[in-house]
Amino acid sequence: MNGAGTKRRIGIGIVGCGGIAQSHAAALKRLEQAGECTVVGCADLVEEKAKGLAEKFELPSWYADARRLIDRPDVEAITVCTNPPFHVPATLMAAERGKHTIVEKPMTMDLAEADRAIEATRKANVRFGVIFMRRFWPGAQRARKAIDDGKLGDRLILGDCILKWTRRQAYYRDPWRGTWAGENGAALVNQAVHALDMFLWLMAPAGQLETVYGKWANLTHPYIEAEDNAVAALRWANGALGVLSVSISTDPQLGARITVTGDKGATVSVTEHPEGRFGLNDVWTIPGEEEEMGRLYERELQEGREHFKPFPIAHFWQLQDFLAAIREGRDPLVTGEEGRRSIELIEAIRLSTESGAEVKLPLRTSTWVPPTRR
Ligand SMILES: NC(=O)c1ccc[n+]([C@@H]2O[C@H](COP(=O)([O-])OP(=O)(O)OC[C@H]3O[C@@H](n4cnc5c(N)ncnc54)[C@H](O)[C@@H]3O)[C@@H](O)[C@H]2O)c1
Repeated sequence: MNGAGTKRRIGIGIVGCGGIAQSHAAALKRLEQAGECTVVGCADLVEEKAKGLAEKFELPSWYADARRLIDRPDVEAITVCTNPPFHVPATLMAAERGKHTIVEKPMTMDLAEADRAIEATRKANVRFGVIFMRRFWPGAQRARKAIDDGKLGDRLILGDCILKWTRRQAYYRDPWRGTWAGENGAALVNQAVHALDMFLWLMAPAGQLETVYGKWANLTHPYIEAEDNAVAALRWANGALGVLSVSISTDPQLGARITVTGDKGATVSVTEHPEGRFGLNDVWTIPGEEEEMGRLYERELQEGREHFKPFPIAHFWQLQDFLAAIREGRDPLVTGEEGRRSIELIEAIRLSTESGAEVKLPLRTSTWVPPTRR
């Protein structure tokens, strides 16, 4: 903020103009109206897509080459909405030019590549964020605060992460989806990664995730290469245990729920039911807070119905945090280091499935080789 109380506008460009870019453009235009940024333009390898996004959201410029957008002096930051293989290359390109980047999930599927992006952005002193917009739900923030405030006890003891979503054949319309080369996986890297990030974030006070025993399989999607179901058993440094069960083979009405229990026996949840709604605290057994939380649950259930569909509010919140981080010279809430955690867990599940043994973390590099590269 300057003395007059107005915020400095950040010039920002959108790289990749497909599906999720629509949410970024809508959120950024809203932030532009609020005086927080200027959406300078967009770029996509497919010229019509760049032009289409620019026309739809009245962006002043569009390019078929991301470099030309990033090179513009009025572009201070980019948001990367391409499919995964270009997330880190775009970040490195921007960092070389002293520009800030926020990338869509997953940040990459390679731990060494993740480290390159983290290192390059730290060295260039630019901000680097990874989109995990569900962390910005009020219910998610509230659960993490209750944990940090010690309301569940002195230490976390148990966590579970259940995601039951649906992806049918039509979803795999783009050749990159569900393939090893295109996204290095399917259900884990694309859908479940949201829940894995939330799970690891809520369980973070349990310390380093130390061991993972996992299995993935493709059980009902013969038209994709990678996993549609996965399970794992986890243990953190403080002794806490966790389970994980994810699927894209279930009824569309099922959702995702993460619950965390502390040593006082109190449990809090973040539940998204069905996919696409706000995450709510439908389990909250902190003594003395149950009644108030019940009322809040009903209110947020209603608010979620009203807000989530017409406008990507959680993307708005995360992009707002990213712009504030640039202005204030601080890290965004979800940094590159944070974005790396879910990738490391997925790598551990892959390695454990392969060996049949428990995998010890931390992992420095990705060593698992997809079947198509053997
Ligand atoms: N946060 C969420 O809820 C959410 C939802 C959907 C997708 N995503 C993520 O967003 C990313 C994109 O997904 P999508 O569904 O929008 O995919 P998409 O295929 O609809 O769009 C990707 C676009 O990127 C473009 N592109 C690829 N390489 C490029 C390059 N080098 N330069 C410029 N443009 C390039 C493609 O031409 C395409 O138009 C993925 O990582 C996906 O996992 C996140």
